[in-house]
Amino acid sequence: MSETRIIDASDPAAQNKVVLDVVALLAAGEVVALPTETVYGLGADALNPEAVAKVFAAKERPAFDPLIVHVGSFEQVDEVAEVPEELKEVVAKLMKAHWPGPLTLVLPKKDCVPDIVTSGLPTVAVRMSAHPIMKAVVRGLGHPVAAPSANRFGRISPTSASAVEKELSGRIPAIVDGGACREGLESTIIRPEAGEKRPVLHMLRSGPVTKEMLQRFGKVERPKRNRSNEAPEAPGQLDSHYAPVTPLRLLRKPEDFKPEAGKKYGLLSYCGSEKTGFINAYEWDHVEELSPGNGKLAEAAVRFFFVLRLLDESGVDEIIAEPVSETGLGVAIMDKLRRASSRK
Ligand code: TXA
Ligand code: MG
Repeated sequence: MSETRIIDASDPAAQNKVVLDVVALLAAGEVVALPTETVYGLGADALNPEAVAKVFAAKERPAFDPLIVHVGSFEQVDEVAEVPEELKEVVAKLMKAHWPGPLTLVLPKKDCVPDIVTSGLPTVAVRMSAHPIMKAVVRGLGHPVAAPSANRFGRISPTSASAVEKELSGRIPAIVDGGACREGLESTIIRPEAGEKRPVLHMLRSGPVTKEMLQRFGKVERPKRNRSNEAPEAPGQLDSHYAPVTPLRLLRKPEDFKPEAGKKYGLLSYCGSEKTGFINAYEWDHVEELSPGNGKLAEAAVRFFFVLRLLDESGVDEIIAEPVSETGLGVAIMDKLRRASSRK
């Protein structure tokens, strides 16, 4: 692949033209990196298997890991998914409350969705992005857009166009620069199922739509963690995901840190708080704070992948991560920290 074009979409007046250009590329079977409110996605026409194959190739993504399909309207869900009668009410309520937004629904798929998109699963993951560019592109194309996060497989998700460039430059024809992502963490993924009294919402990936926010729609269940690493229900949710190149270790308390002589250590601090002790536990070679303004979890979520990337590029030998409070958005952050640290 030759050069990757960066398409600047910061000027609202130019956005129509940008959307037209991107739609033309996608309609021609190309892939384009696009901003969404969560993270940047690598988009392709979801109904064109050759185009979708280019997404897998650019990301070096294994074929067993299915893609999320982005729709442009509630009605478009029915083009790709067969919502069972008994789930129609809860699905409608979830869409009304959280779409467009960072919630992905896993539903039985229709035949028009190529197997490569769903990795042969009988279900399809669907979401409607709130980002104006992604929304306009899906509408302009007239087909749903398959878009996984625009990083190489297993690596840190990109929350800016420059992060996408570092991951995929030279592998894809274009990246749309729509600025930094508002949410910073990937969408929450749930699989709704009919229950005896209330629907059951299987939470396959934690994200910006938290368990607390979903409880009014049904019983929220976290699938048992799959220890064997074989065929987890969300196949992309393997251990050793979201990993920086630099080894990362999540520690519970400062006393657990035993530095080795001659090694450089970076600290991924939650609020830079002296109370938890990590910040003063060592002469860190590099420190990044998730929530320097003390917006706490919301701020930490937006900055998470950005900060992880800074630490990865800082030249330290190991990143030490301190825990964040495991409530609300903190559940998704801790999940990602555990996966990032499980590889070593
Ligand atoms: O916020 C997001 O969801 C971003 C933006 C770009 O929309 N996309 C994203 O895609 O995070 P990706 O490919 O990085 O993660 C998709 C996850 C994977 O863990 C995959 O296994 C799961 O969705 N998934 C896709 N289809 C599925 C299905 N039919 N059943 C269960 N899990 C599925
Ligand atoms: Mg991803």
